[in-house]
Amino acid sequence: MASIQSRKVTVVGAGFVGSTCAQLAAFKNLASEVVLIDVLEGRPQGIALDLNQSAAVEGFQARVIGTNDPADTADSDVVIMTAGRPRKPGMSRSDLLEVNGRIVATVAEYVRRLSPEAIVIVVTNPLDSMVSLMRHCLGFPARRVIGMAGVLDSSRFCWFIREETGAAVQDVNAMVLGAHGDSMVPMPNYCTVNGVQVADLVKADRMDAMADRTRHGGAEIVGLLKTGSAWYAPASSAVAMAESILNDAQRLMPCACLMNGEFGFEGVYMGVPAILGSEGVQRIVEVPLTAEARAQLQKTAGAVQNDVEALRDLGLM
Ligand code: LAC
Repeated sequence: MASIQSRKVTVVGAGFVGSTCAQLAAFKNLASEVVLIDVLEGRPQGIALDLNQSAAVEGFQARVIGTNDPADTADSDVVIMTAGRPRKPGMSRSDLLEVNGRIVATVAEYVRRLSPEAIVIVVTNPLDSMVSLMRHCLGFPARRVIGMAGVLDSSRFCWFIREETGAAVQDVNAMVLGAHGDSMVPMPNYCTVNGVQVADLVKADRMDAMADRTRHGGAEIVGLLKTGSAWYAPASSAVAMAESILNDAQRLMPCACLMNGEFGFEGVYMGVPAILGSEGVQRIVEVPLTAEARAQLQKTAGAVQNDVEALRDLGLM
């Protein structure tokens, strides 16, 4: 991985998620160049100029480049893919399969050609099948093509635990595995407040309610916003993954990885605990699962495979 002075992060899509990713990447000085690319003319350029004009106040050194030209993304170390349509109320993430699948395929074509060594973090929904498609189109080793959502879903679960227990949020840890959809698998036995099991602090029905609210955390926000879906927590999550990769920090983060026998699954992307470092996914951590969690992961794998089949029927894979 290049030194911090010459690092380049590209964010694809200058919507709310993408522009917030660019902002966080710049604020954290993750790279010397943060490229924000979109098909809309003027929007990435305008956001980049606005962000650069905050540099004197915020004191960051990164330079944000807004562009419509894929050539400007060449030799990126990390690419964060956010482009795509968001959900509207009543839509499931899978309703976005075709429209977002075509966008992923278009972006993959230039990432493969121009940034062959990049590590790609996919945020576009439906997450698990879009990351499968991205990997298929890129042909990169699976460790370099990763889906975002476990960090987001776990962070939502942390917030609900904070609200329920009153604990300081930085002491709260939670884990959500499986797909980023209705079949996601909150893991109550991996939720702690500084090592104390949350299950020892709250009643079982409250734990179930928090897990359920987590499962529908994205839809709850879509319902409130009415146009578009969440962006702050999704962007924070994607940038936290990029940070662990760029700094080779080896953080354990739940994210969508290609299964190669882990947990008994093969050839399917799903959210699992993974160590993220300079190679991308350094290692998948096979934590012990309850029989219930195992059955739920099985369901998740089925849901992802259905979406992947639909992408094949559309001729995209
Ligand atoms: C959400 C979208 C980003 O969960 O999937 O908010």
